[in-house]
Amino acid sequence: MGIFEKFQKLAETRKALEKNSSEFFSVVIEKVISPTEVIINGRSVVLAGGNNYLGLTFNAECIRAACDAVQKDGTGTTGSRVANGTYSGHVALEQELSEFFGRRKTIIFSTGYIACMAMVSTLVGRDEVILLDADCHASIYDGCRMGGAEVIRFRHNDIQDLEKRLHRLENRKTNVLIVVEGLYSMMGDRAPLADIAVLKRRYGAYLLIDEAHSLGVLGETGRGLAEEAGVEDSVDFIVGTFSKSLGAIGGFCTSNHPEFDLLRYASRAYIFTASSSPSIIASTRMALKILRSQPELKHRLWNHAHLLYQRLKDLGLSLGPTPGPIIAVCCENPWKTVEIWRGLLDHGIYVNMVLPPATPDGRALLRCSLSSLHTREQVEKIGDAFASLKAKHPNDW
Ligand SMILES: Cc1ncc(COP(=O)(O)O)c(C=O)c1O
Repeated sequence: MGIFEKFQKLAETRKALEKNSSEFFSVVIEKVISPTEVIINGRSVVLAGGNNYLGLTFNAECIRAACDAVQKDGTGTTGSRVANGTYSGHVALEQELSEFFGRRKTIIFSTGYIACMAMVSTLVGRDEVILLDADCHASIYDGCRMGGAEVIRFRHNDIQDLEKRLHRLENRKTNVLIVVEGLYSMMGDRAPLADIAVLKRRYGAYLLIDEAHSLGVLGETGRGLAEEAGVEDSVDFIVGTFSKSLGAIGGFCTSNHPEFDLLRYASRAYIFTASSSPSIIASTRMALKILRSQPELKHRLWNHAHLLYQRLKDLGLSLGPTPGPIIAVCCENPWKTVEIWRGLLDHGIYVNMVLPPATPDGRALLRCSLSSLHTREQVEKIGDAFASLKAKHPNDW
């Protein structure tokens, strides 16, 4: 049996999907016009699948900071943080994140994926337990696989199920780490964090929240769902990414635990990879400054979110439970979803298509994500495109 034979089923699925839209597997962004507009197949397209929530990828100050850093410190660090890769910018960004979150210590990582994976695989090990929400991101699942802890899933956002499992673990006298997300990336819904915090305290567990999609989006000052829910004191570890609201690439974990820094010596994903390049660190530091000083970006994003959610709801589409910058449209039939996705592209709208098994409950999703830099006209254009596709395919959603 050849080494690729095990991928046969994957190849067949891909081929079948290609029949409905060959473009899906070959979309290339030929040119980026702005955070919300790109050229695909020679045509201008509104980008509604970018996670660029605050639109900072083209911010003039972020770009200037990145360019200055390249000039001053070069294009890369060529080493890990524990070898030759800790620059003053890394330390400064960690301090600024600590100050923003009001926590003792922050560790930054080269991507958000690595941050989640590193924390989950390192914090708990053999004879300890991870209790994770079933809809958590792949980076969290991969961390679970790498670490030695027992992994128990609870039903997505189901407090009763979580409590039942915590109760069962009570006599084990072991460390239990509950892992949830702020805004869930697929449906854009939120964890019931206030209730989770009550359980965490009642059962003496630890709580880690991945605020990848909620940093800069939720909470009075943009610190995420923990801030919005008023339970920051109950959250032991906040993980996040620089690749969404902060418009770059990288990740972090911040904590008040006095021993937190020990993870720098225990986490292989921190030790054995090169640190972020100076330009990334510089633009992220500037983006954090802007996130803190320009709350109007967040307000504009939410205005767009309410507008589009209502529009799609009025069309009778099946959406996630609440409005937000991620608006997922559910479709029953994956094959038709590919056709509708293609139709949206023909209308000049790019959204993310997510197909089973990557979706939470086996349905296909057309996932829109909004940016504060979308214009009102662009948001209306997204709504118009869905209206037109709904009229063309009335029964396929
Ligand atoms: C919930 C969640 N956590 C972590 C990540 C990983 O972040 P990054 O893409 O910045 O590595 C993502 C990426 O989409 C995500 O959605």
